[in-house]
Amino acid sequence: MAGSGSERAAVELCKGINGLDKVYLYGGHVTSWRNDQREELLFVSTKEIFKPPKAIRGGIPICFPQFGSNGSLEQHGFARNKFWSIDTDPPPFPTTSKSFIDLILKPSEEDMQKWPHSYEFRLRVALGNGGDLMLTSRVRNTNGDGKPFTFAFAYHTYFSVSDISEVRVEGLETLDYLDNLENKERFTEQGDALTFESEVDKVYLGAPTKIAILDHEKKRTFVLRKDGLPDAVVWNPWDKKAKTMTDFGDDEYMHMLCVEAAAAEKPITLKPGRGVERKTGTVSGSFKLL
Ligand code: BG6
Repeated sequence: MAGSGSERAAVELCKGINGLDKVYLYGGHVTSWRNDQREELLFVSTKEIFKPPKAIRGGIPICFPQFGSNGSLEQHGFARNKFWSIDTDPPPFPTTSKSFIDLILKPSEEDMQKWPHSYEFRLRVALGNGGDLMLTSRVRNTNGDGKPFTFAFAYHTYFSVSDISEVRVEGLETLDYLDNLENKERFTEQGDALTFESEVDKVYLGAPTKIAILDHEKKRTFVLRKDGLPDAVVWNPWDKKAKTMTDFGDDEYMHMLCVEAAAAEKPITLKPGRGVERKTGTVSGSFKLL
C-alpha cells in the first residue's frame, strides 16, 4: 500500500477475488474494476499520467463540492484533485462485503481559503460477493461557526464499452434534461432508449434509481444503481472534442461512456453537525440477444 504523499498512491483491492481493483489516494479515485473473466469494466485513457494537477481521465472521479462549472471553484470541484487518506477509523457501514476500503478527505487551511467550510468526506469502495462495485459517500458538515454549506456531487463513472455506436442506455427515455451543449437549456427526451452518434453532454433530471447500459458487442449490461442522487449525467466528447483534450486519445471516445449518478441541478444543503450518505452501485451482468 503506498503512502498518502505519493503521486502514484494506488491501493490494490480484492486481489484474486474478483479481479484487481485499484483505488488511487489521488482523487479518492477508483480506476480498475474487473469481472470474473478478468475483463476491465472501467475506461481509463491511455494518455492518463496519474499526476496532479489534472484529475485522472477515466475510472470514477468524485465531483465535489461543485458539478461542472456551476460555481466559483474549478470544474467539478476539488475532491478529484486532492490526496485522500486511508480512513483508519471509519464509522460502521452496513455491508456484507468482505472486500472494501475506506478513504477520507478533510480540508487543509489552504483549501478553506477557496471553500470556507469544514467537512469530513468519507468514501467506502466495496466489492460485493457477486462482483458488484459499490461506492458510498458520507459527507459531514463540521463547520464550527454554525453555518450550513451547500454542495453538488457526482460519481463521474467512465464505463468501458466496445463500440459506442452499439451501446444503448435504458431508463432515461422521456425524461427532462439540461443540455450542456445548448447553454443548459431544458428539453425532454423523446422516444426509445438512448443511442449515440455524436457528442452528448446532458443532465437528466429526476432520473430513476436504476439505469441500464447495454453493450451489444460485448453482450454485457451494466446496471447503475443510485440512491439519493436525483440526476444522471450522460457524457461522451466524440471525435472533435476528443482532439482538443490532451489527456484523451483521439479515438478513445468510441470505447467509453460516462453515466454519472449526480446531484447536479439542485445542490445538497447540510447544517453543521449533520451528515448525508449517497450511494452508487454498478453491477455487471450479461444479456442474451433475442
Ligand atoms: C461531464 C460534464 O460530467 O464531464 C462535461 O457534463 C465535461 O461538461 C465532462 O466536459 C468532462 O469534464 P472534465 O473536467 O473531466 O474534462
